[in-house]
Amino acid sequence: MMRKAILMMVAWLAVLAVQARERVNFDRDWCFLLADTARMAQRDYDDAFWRRLDVPHDWAIEGDFHVSNPSGASGGALPGGVGWYRKHFAIDNLKLNGEKFYLEFDGVYMNSTVYVNGREVGYRPYGYSSFEYDITPYVVEGDNVVAVRVDNSDQPNSRWYSGCGIYRHVWLTRTHPIHVKHWGVYVHHGKVEVDYENPTGQKVKVRNMWLDREGRPTSIRRPHLWSCDDPYTYKVRTQLISGGEVVDEVETVTGFRNFRFDAKTGFWLNGRNMKLNGVCEHHDFGCLGAALNEDALHRKLSRLKAMGVNAIRSSHNPPAPELLAMCDTMGLIVMDESFDMWRRRKSAGDYARFFDEWHERDLTDLVLRDRNHPSVLMWSIGNEVLEQWSSAEADTLTLEQANLILNAGHDASTLAKDGEMSVQSLLTQHLANIVRRYDQTRPITAGCNEPSPGNHLFKSGALDIVGYNYHHQWVKDVPRDFPDKPFIFTESVSALQTRGYYRMPSDKVYVAPEEWWKPYTDPSFMCSSYDNSRVPWGSTHEETWDVVKHTPYVGGQFIWTGFDYIGEPTPYGFPARSSYFGIIDLAGFPKDSYYMYQSEWTQKPMLHLFPHWNWQEGQTIDLWAYYNQADEVELFVNGRSQGIRRKDDHTYHVAWRVTYEPGEVKAVSRKDGKTVCEQTIRTAGPATAIRLSVDYQGHDLTFVSAEVVDAQGNLCPWAEDQICFTATGGARVVGTDNGCQTSMERFTAPKRKAFFGRCLVVVKGGGRLEAVSPMLKTAKMVIE
Ligand code: GAL
Repeated sequence: MMRKAILMMVAWLAVLAVQARERVNFDRDWCFLLADTARMAQRDYDDAFWRRLDVPHDWAIEGDFHVSNPSGASGGALPGGVGWYRKHFAIDNLKLNGEKFYLEFDGVYMNSTVYVNGREVGYRPYGYSSFEYDITPYVVEGDNVVAVRVDNSDQPNSRWYSGCGIYRHVWLTRTHPIHVKHWGVYVHHGKVEVDYENPTGQKVKVRNMWLDREGRPTSIRRPHLWSCDDPYTYKVRTQLISGGEVVDEVETVTGFRNFRFDAKTGFWLNGRNMKLNGVCEHHDFGCLGAALNEDALHRKLSRLKAMGVNAIRSSHNPPAPELLAMCDTMGLIVMDESFDMWRRRKSAGDYARFFDEWHERDLTDLVLRDRNHPSVLMWSIGNEVLEQWSSAEADTLTLEQANLILNAGHDASTLAKDGEMSVQSLLTQHLANIVRRYDQTRPITAGCNEPSPGNHLFKSGALDIVGYNYHHQWVKDVPRDFPDKPFIFTESVSALQTRGYYRMPSDKVYVAPEEWWKPYTDPSFMCSSYDNSRVPWGSTHEETWDVVKHTPYVGGQFIWTGFDYIGEPTPYGFPARSSYFGIIDLAGFPKDSYYMYQSEWTQKPMLHLFPHWNWQEGQTIDLWAYYNQADEVELFVNGRSQGIRRKDDHTYHVAWRVTYEPGEVKAVSRKDGKTVCEQTIRTAGPATAIRLSVDYQGHDLTFVSAEVVDAQGNLCPWAEDQICFTATGGARVVGTDNGCQTSMERFTAPKRKAFFGRCLVVVKGGGRLEAVSPMLKTAKMVIE
């Protein structure tokens, strides 16, 4: 009897522990309408005719490109507007123990207002912040309705494609009245600080337990360190105990690593000197838009990792929480960035209009949310903010006004110490102090495109790391201009490339536009994929890498960008609507420079010869090769040697200038006379068929590449056939793309023209996929 009672007691305690907090995903079964009336907030509003969907959702990606869309080509030329989401949900046993209910949004772009049962719960302008509302006072027993108004009508408000809607996950959490606050656990130096709510006045005991990666209790006396090659993570299980019961329990993923940025020797992780081989990334997923999808994110990060990337900059805003979680487990270092503008705007409707009122809240929330991630190694308080320079606008503020803005409610350390600190420098200090208030374990930087020490941000003394955007020619002066300050390229390169397009001669560098203020156009609407095309403020890939590689005090770089993104089609305007900067195109297909980095940043033997071998007879063609783990490469055209080439310490490719004749080109790399790698490219004959292959297999999505090939299976590099996709048996086409920056085809349409021979189709669920084009043999595939 006694034993039974004890067993029951144990079971009951276990149940209590499990029920202590219930956090459920709240993504499913929303109703959506792209329209706007205040009545849509009401509890009894009839939404029966609305579209049903699951979030994350981005309504803009479903639209058509149009020159008159107010986002402009820089915003992707896709529609904006005001949309509403509504969701019906049930709450049982509401009054049980005085529980609390929280609704958490990982991101809504932008200007979201949330209503529960017709009553306004809160408003959040910044589209990249995660936020939570206490909805306890608004919920009722039984049926409830949450309505979310999303207003992205005031455009342009972004220099890149933002997406529209509830584009990240939503969560509903039910807790005991005594519970850990939102982002209430802070783990640092092996210690755990817990911030909890206790309206009951009862005694509460906090218990923290360390768990190893497998979830077993462990000691952290000699912790297994986190690194890019071995991204070992721990968990802390935090329990609140009151009246002998576990009333709340949360788990926090964290890790141990030591790192430093040194003014002479650059970046060190766990005692190892290494470079940050980073890329900047915007948040969109090409044809899937801004809607967060773990498969798309994992595909992105894996492709970058395979290139040798070890660091990501979340440019220029807080990333999805899942990006950080994946970087934790994949071994990618993160520069976590907050803003693209402060008080001075870059586009008419951007965050500058909210900055004064919201910056403290948004920056605080970023740090509170992200400070336990082992992958996050630095904070960036801004990108190329206009406060780097004095301006009439800012200079006309009186000191009182400035102090009001900068110091309202803050400690004396943020006050101007003497008359020399400008408003902009004070603002820099103020933002850095907000970060330091919540985390002092990571350095603070900012992406600065003014390299002079007279930059108000540098002048503030508040930045731990000097970060240049571009200006690689100025790097030699860094030790003189910033003695004792560590240095990185917060942003670099901005080379311009269209996958598959090659402009010759390849040893001439094409700068587009010629000057940043000059309009530029070219009927091709393309940029060359030899590494010979760049913006005037940038460099080729090889140029900056050469500086980073050979300058010990440069801690590394974040290349603009890893993937192409929607918007900012520099150097062109509409109909170009997506970027040329990516090392990987918008569809996820690597451009040639991908292999340059692979040859420098990875150890596995590789060889990449390009371009293709379908030209006009007698044409002069430049062939390039990237390689590693070898001393030389020899090129053969139809079996005849074109010579042996070798790289030296400052060159990153080898090249041959040859006369085209149909047949084949072959490159052979050798080390000590022994073949390491070989690659052959054959002239393709007439296009005859479509070839489907899995590019990336996710849990929910399958990314399939469709190539146009000749009778022998060679890729037809000029093919532009339109391919129609049909998915059946539970599978559904959710997006298509080909990496072409000017394609006006809808991203969600199940058809796409091949671009330089290939395109991509993204399929959700398992079933059959068929690809049809009038002149080509149909291809079929089973999707698992
Ligand atoms: C930088 C900016 C980026 C992007 C890039 C293009 O100045 O920080 O957001 O615009 O230029 O080269």
